[in-house]
Amino acid sequence: MTKIVILPGDGIGPEIAAAAARLLAAVGEFELEEHPIGGASIDAHGTALTEETLAACRAADAVLLAAVGGPRWDAAVAADPSAPRPEQGLLGLRKGLGLFANLRPVRPSPALLDASPLKRDRIEGTDLLVVRELTGGIYFGESGRSGDSAHDDCLYTVGEIERIARVGFKSARRKLTSVDKANVLETSRLWRETVNRVHREEFPDVELEHLLVDNAAMQLVSRPADFDTIVTENLFGDILSDEAAMLTGSLGMLPSASIGGDGPGLFEPVHGSAPDIAGTGKANPLAMFGSVALMLRHGLGLEDSAAGVESAIDRALEGGLRTADLGGEAGTAAATDAVLANI
Ligand code: IPM
Ligand code: MG
Repeated sequence: MTKIVILPGDGIGPEIAAAAARLLAAVGEFELEEHPIGGASIDAHGTALTEETLAACRAADAVLLAAVGGPRWDAAVAADPSAPRPEQGLLGLRKGLGLFANLRPVRPSPALLDASPLKRDRIEGTDLLVVRELTGGIYFGESGRSGDSAHDDCLYTVGEIERIARVGFKSARRKLTSVDKANVLETSRLWRETVNRVHREEFPDVELEHLLVDNAAMQLVSRPADFDTIVTENLFGDILSDEAAMLTGSLGMLPSASIGGDGPGLFEPVHGSAPDIAGTGKANPLAMFGSVALMLRHGLGLEDSAAGVESAIDRALEGGLRTADLGGEAGTAAATDAVLANI
């Protein structure tokens, strides 16, 4: 049987992971295996990612992660900089599974066009994909402190840029927008050169444009519907994808897929652990459900089931489902019921 490892993690993580398990039970037969990660793993084992969790993920067909992090562990690090951080679990998992490509599709549900802080006429027609490099750059460079200074190095190799550029070109339907900061950063100049060469040599038929990241941040909210696929490095992708999430009405709507390794993919909502509402039953499970859909599609090759989940989400929203982040009253359980009713 298809084996899925579920990593509930912290904050609202366990609540939306339970909702995802309900959804999966309605969609098909899967063997689900739960393991700790992040703060939950620190509490139980003293480290954010144990060998056991990593090995279980490697042995699975796909990995579904809810969220990691929270103020309690931040405070522990503030008191003792050598204390483990929940986020190390997620970064270790991405690196450990070789997941260098993170896909973040942004497709506002028609029923939510008025839920975004942006005007309807700006976001109508938006259907874009952020392809974020996930295992390189400043996230994984050398870092440290000495005296009253600190540093985080940003390093990219040609090979790392080539492989993520290929994912970008293959994902693009009409145009690829490569985002960098080539007017300032050397890594960005290497990025641009390499993307241009991969374009010339392998994908001359795909239209390619380059945008500087500050300009891209502005264009994303002023003309989002003009974007097709955006490819960018790790840190810029982190920032731009949170910004793009607001096109869908809420950060609680955006799913993601991390792929590229020779083992299973990792599927997770873009939002964090929302410690302020953890345990209240109010968390929006829809980004998690969207991540389940991406897992069915990209991780398990079950396109029909994936499309079924996505249209059930859209129909539930058309039927009036609104969680608190979208200005409504529905809690996690009611939102799950509403989606299940449309499967
Ligand atoms: C994300 C998150 C993570 C990241 C954090 C939790 C480490 O913000 O997936 O976007 O920065 O990659
Ligand atoms: Mg982020």
